[in-house]
Amino acid sequence: MFDLDQFISDCRVALQQNPPQSSVREVVARAVSDPAAVLKALGEPKRGEIQTLHRASDLTILKVIWAPWMTLLPHDHRMWAVIGIYTGREDNIFWRRLQSSGGVKVEAAGAKALVEKESVPLGHDIIHSVTNPIPRFTGAIHIYGGDFFGVPRSEWDPETLLEQPSDGWKMASRLEDANALFASTPQKRAAEPARVVNPTRVS
Ligand SMILES: [Fe+2]
Repeated sequence: MFDLDQFISDCRVALQQNPPQSSVREVVARAVSDPAAVLKALGEPKRGEIQTLHRASDLTILKVIWAPWMTLLPHDHRMWAVIGIYTGREDNIFWRRLQSSGGVKVEAAGAKALVEKESVPLGHDIIHSVTNPIPRFTGAIHIYGGDFFGVPRSEWDPETLLEQPSDGWKMASRLEDANALFASTPQKRAAEPARVVNPTRVS
């Protein structure tokens, strides 16, 4: 059984341990080890969203639902984080800063696919982008060692990969964009069926 109030309380206790991130990760790992219980408590995902479960100056707990096939552009958090998946899949690309003549860009440095029952700690300076590569919603618990919405941060333009200002609210609004895009996808697919133009024949 997953009890949200108990979970928040356990995270707050873990926050007092040293190091807090490792202890919080243990709490998250324990929770997502029973994904059916988390689903029952938090509900079956129906739309992309960021729902705040707990917000304080030293700890934020979010329910994050990724819309099918959506990608969230590269961004940083400027605080440690723990991610646990309770349904679906979340693919992370990790990026590193790269000084260029046009400004601060990023280049891909690694990747990690996360599936249900898995959790991962993210360091204070991590830059990542997130893709839900499957045709259904992915549900995750994201925990941050600070006020997720109270800290200015950066994101990197998906086309130029150049740095620009961002914040937690802007991140949350991108989930709404993804919902709108997903809502329009089936009609678009029906109107424009996929086809292969001039396929090369292999004999
Ligand atoms: Fe993130």
